[in-house]
Amino acid sequence: MPAALTTVAPSAMSAAVKAPGFFDGVTLAPSDPILGVNEAYLADEFPGKISLGVGAYRTEKGLPYVLPVVKRVEQQIWEDPRANHEYLPIDGLPVFQRLATELIFGPDCAAISDGRIVTVQTLSGSGALRIGLTFVARYYADASSLPPIYIPSPTWNNHRDIVPDAGLGEARTFRYLDAKSGGVDMPGLLADLSDAPVGAIVILHGCAHNPTGADPTLAEWRDIVSLVRERRLIPFFDVAYQGFASGDLDTDAGSVRLFADAGVDMLLSLSFAKNMGLYGERIGSLSVVLSEHTVNVPATAKAVRSQLKAVIRPMYSSPPAHGARIVAGVLGDATNFAAWKEELAGMASRIGDMRTALKAALDANGAPGDWTRIVKQQGMFSYTGLSAAHVAYLRSKYHIYMTSDGRVSMAGLTTSTVQRVADAIKDAVETVV
Ligand code: LMR
Repeated sequence: MPAALTTVAPSAMSAAVKAPGFFDGVTLAPSDPILGVNEAYLADEFPGKISLGVGAYRTEKGLPYVLPVVKRVEQQIWEDPRANHEYLPIDGLPVFQRLATELIFGPDCAAISDGRIVTVQTLSGSGALRIGLTFVARYYADASSLPPIYIPSPTWNNHRDIVPDAGLGEARTFRYLDAKSGGVDMPGLLADLSDAPVGAIVILHGCAHNPTGADPTLAEWRDIVSLVRERRLIPFFDVAYQGFASGDLDTDAGSVRLFADAGVDMLLSLSFAKNMGLYGERIGSLSVVLSEHTVNVPATAKAVRSQLKAVIRPMYSSPPAHGARIVAGVLGDATNFAAWKEELAGMASRIGDMRTALKAALDANGAPGDWTRIVKQQGMFSYTGLSAAHVAYLRSKYHIYMTSDGRVSMAGLTTSTVQRVADAIKDAVETVV
């Protein structure tokens, strides 16, 4: 018997067994403001429950949608005799990186032909934001002071959590929503960003702002570009809904392309969760765009890629392959690409129909309030102006689920539920004052 065991007294051993577990002190984390709503919806056994919480497209029957083009590409993937389950490189599938970059920046983008865009595959948009911000934190940590990160108020909940987790402290906010009109508060936005220090990172939603559905016009985006150049700010675009705002991929990339054409340093996260319906495949990309003033583009691009890989490798080693192959199969084949554009336009159009139907039903049933914002806002969400108390009432009385900020996922509505939702909203607004 080893000496160490023979010397442990029996009383000491029983004390060790009785000691509390190492994890006894772990406290309960708050439930996620978006995915937690979905968990509550799934746990609800009421047959007529309605989910307007999580931003996931649903068919006219209220069911998850697998795009036909995606099914076809998945078949094509496995018909290829070379298909296998080998590891992807740390920065992902090269053909996916190229096609994703061209999709958002446009194939004629000067930054692409100059070699000024470094793109890596990521675990969808959240992964891209986390890798990008961790890269920023490491880079600036060497320069001894971290840049402030500005996020819109309001914004997607996860932005607020990703920033400190990436080691950048609490995010600062800039005004975004004009609560009265439901549109963008441009004077507030420009005033707040004018006060941001040089080098501050500003998170901007490329299109279909989440949660408000309110986007700047192209002319307003030009004003933001001018300010960003003048103040030498660094935009970090979050593009999770390309194609969902207007139904057209190029139109929805308009804001991003203005910034790329302006030749500024920027970062961009791109997600294929919504526009290809690849939610659980976790497929997206992070692009770091070097400014046109970069002194040595090839060396800097190479260094940036190496640093991004150095962030990824200890975090999850390398990304999953399946989603990247699907996206590459859709974007890289003219027939598949054309089919996708049509299917995407179809999803955007059904959401548009639901906007019209919900506003019409609220106007017709006399629900107090001006509901015009529902048809003015674009993308997957409508920021209805309903309060947390209204939302709680809708959930407990009608089993209708939405996030507590009154955001409605318009994609969750169907022709057969819209009247029920409108009548429930009328009751909530009249009862809970
Ligand atoms: C949403 O905003 O509902 C989606 O982007 C899902 C998520 O991850 O929050």
